[in-house]
Amino acid sequence: MRIDILTLFPGMFEGPFNESIIRRGIDRGLLEIHVHNLRDWGLGKHKVVDDYPFGGGTGMVVRPEPVFEATEAIQALADTSGAVVLLTPQGKVFDQSTALKFSEYSRIILICGHYEGIDERVREHLITDEISIGDYVLTGGELPAMVVVDAVARLLPGVLGSESSAREDSHTRGLLEYPHYTRPQSFRGWEVPDVLLSGNHALIAKWRKEQSILRTLSRRPDLIEKADLTPDERELMARLKPESDKENESALPTCGHAQS
Ligand code: ADE
Repeated sequence: MRIDILTLFPGMFEGPFNESIIRRGIDRGLLEIHVHNLRDWGLGKHKVVDDYPFGGGTGMVVRPEPVFEATEAIQALADTSGAVVLLTPQGKVFDQSTALKFSEYSRIILICGHYEGIDERVREHLITDEISIGDYVLTGGELPAMVVVDAVARLLPGVLGSESSAREDSHTRGLLEYPHYTRPQSFRGWEVPDVLLSGNHALIAKWRKEQSILRTLSRRPDLIEKADLTPDERELMARLKPESDKENESALPTCGHAQS
């Protein structure tokens, strides 16, 4: 897969893609990432990319010419023109199903929004998808672009160590992960659940499924409605729901620390 990123701050991308799993994907030839400086397509001697908003108001707006010219030049660098994705707080909120959809494309072009916004004609005539990474406003689309690259890259076959793991993530199916434990078996008096030490794989799988469902019911009930559950899992969920509701009712308001 080929990913092109169009940004006014290419230096921000120097670190994240040179480490760890993304680096491995690039080294294995599974992923190509190219970062382009929008300023290179800026207008005139000063390489201007923004201007005052028509109609007045504060802040600057990114002009359409540099964005169109840059994107068209980038599109010409490969056989397919690809999806053109604008990172903006006004976009559709990014989730695992969008990450999966993008991971099936042969290329995507990510455009990092900036300033007060981008000329509307870019949205109307160039962009294929508008993506937000959450309901908060960042200083620009660079961090969101990194989030999208990371979430998509780990879904490409061969990028993660074990190929099946990303596509079988519980989040992929709309559930949160079950709790994980490792050594030591007893830490500061806190024990690993007995079932995980039982060696009974069927029982462990059942416990993990229940934990996954319980966790999703209590923390993210909104995910359950969209979850891709088997009839057995739906039945399990119906059985666990009263238990989870009871726990939620009695839960103290959390302040982010373990209660002692
Ligand atoms: N640019 C600024 N904030 C953003 C957000 N939450 N998601 C995507 N792009 C952004």
